[in-house]
Amino acid sequence: MQKPRLVIAPSLPEAVLPRLGHAFDAIGGKDNLTVEQALAALHQHKAEALLVSHRHKMTAEIIARLPARIKILATVTVGYDHIDLIAARARGLVVTNTPDVLTDCTADMAMLLILAASRRAAEADQLMRQGWRLSFGMGEFLGRRVTGKRLGIFGMGRIGRAVAERARGFKMPILYCNRHRLPPELELDARYYPTLNSMLPDCDILSLHAPSAAATDRIIDAHALALLPEGAILVNTARGQLVDEAALLAALQSRHLFAAGLDVFRDEPDFDQRFAALPNVFLTPHIGSATLETRTAMAMRALDNVAAFCKGGQAIDALC
Ligand code: 8YV
Repeated sequence: MQKPRLVIAPSLPEAVLPRLGHAFDAIGGKDNLTVEQALAALHQHKAEALLVSHRHKMTAEIIARLPARIKILATVTVGYDHIDLIAARARGLVVTNTPDVLTDCTADMAMLLILAASRRAAEADQLMRQGWRLSFGMGEFLGRRVTGKRLGIFGMGRIGRAVAERARGFKMPILYCNRHRLPPELELDARYYPTLNSMLPDCDILSLHAPSAAATDRIIDAHALALLPEGAILVNTARGQLVDEAALLAALQSRHLFAAGLDVFRDEPDFDQRFAALPNVFLTPHIGSATLETRTAMAMRALDNVAAFCKGGQAIDALC
């Protein structure tokens, strides 16, 4: 049987390259291709499948330019806000993502941001690198206790629930806002709020886990931030599009918020550098899923989808 003909736009972890070699007729996977480079490669390679990541914006215009023989678009991400699903569906393209395999590492990252923002990790690290020489008094360099703080989770899907599971170990009461209330076996002891605004005044820490969509665009705006209690902490491992960044900068500058931990930004990688000038922000460059184990599992899952589909079966994670 013919091997699936595949173009890979993102660079992939080395551990997947042997599988690419024996089970696929693939080009790419070693370097990051732009969308234009990927389009050219698709034509040249007569490919039937394309792998992308979140930095490849698959707009209606790009989807219209895909060669006719492309049947499946597999994104090596769980989020799919970079793909115009309506255009893909209209063209009869199968689109797949990589759920489940990145849940734990992304939840770990949210905990890292919660701890780092609360305990002033960015300032502490910077001070050590500058050469710490002066002991602090008992009342200096104080962060905020994490244990026992009320954690609000916006978006209680797989990753939100994995954050709740971890936060219970820190004796944190869990509050959540989700489109639907969870069944009791998933909700456990978490308190449900049908609207974000009703939850915000009760959150010491707010962690974002909702997808980027028209309904969530800039949902964390000046009004929402003002509803958080004085001294609250915001962490975001979901998408920068959820946040009005100008409003967030103002809330951090005024110290209405104690701190923020941010892994995602509206414009990536060209994030708003004003965040970097603030001592009370802990910043990471969109690395929620970036562990050797998880990125390998994500790439394998995307390849599983292409392999299943090209064998004439159903893709495992078909979005359309
Ligand atoms: C990144 C993510 O996209 O899966 C997602 O939706 O946001 C992340 O895993 C990943 O870094 C791949 O570019």
